[in-house]
Amino acid sequence: MGNASSESSLEVLLDTSRIARRVRELGAEISSDYHGRTPHLVGVLKGAWIFMADLIRNLSIEATVDFLGIQSYVAGTTSSGEVKITKDLDASIAGRDVLVVEDILDTGRTYLYLQGVLSTHQPRSLKLVTLLDKTSRRAVPVKADYVGFQIPNVFVVGYGLDYNQQFRRLAEVRFLRSYPDLNGTSLLGGA
Ligand code: IMP
Ligand code: MG
Repeated sequence: MGNASSESSLEVLLDTSRIARRVRELGAEISSDYHGRTPHLVGVLKGAWIFMADLIRNLSIEATVDFLGIQSYVAGTTSSGEVKITKDLDASIAGRDVLVVEDILDTGRTYLYLQGVLSTHQPRSLKLVTLLDKTSRRAVPVKADYVGFQIPNVFVVGYGLDYNQQFRRLAEVRFLRSYPDLNGTSLLGGA
């Protein structure tokens, strides 16, 4: 890995206080929208787990959790839409108010695929909360119900998001100066 992705070359896009404030707001909004119900949070591994851990601690309603492990295959700098499920859900989502928790919506291809798979299992409702949304990169018609931050077309890492499995541990969301060609990584490291 070259200098382009060494830690010191990563610029902060969202600092910890901005993230914390927005996650609190999302928690309040979701708690109000799901009042009287128990949403089933489905976290998409691996990128979403830190966001999900913070989000659930900002809910004032009861929620259950499950995780879906996926790997998105890439072509150049974008996901191809070919998705492999590496860890299935533990519990049935039939009749549940499912809220999928994603780290980032980029082309939208990964979520379009997940939406198709999950909806065949008859949830009562199916919604998406994503921490980050790169609307300008959208290739398919997918919209998140809750968005933490709209971000520009930059490649971001930290707060659970990786580049080639690196940088998930960073507390801030930072960006790489140049958009990486992800072909060499072969996989986007599991959403
Ligand atoms: P999609 O293009 O919406 O299908 O996004 C697929 C996956 O690519 C996301 O779930 C992330 O794992 C990954 N991804 C997209 N953009 C970024 C980024 O800027 N940083 C890290 N991962 C990303
Ligand atoms: Mg990833």
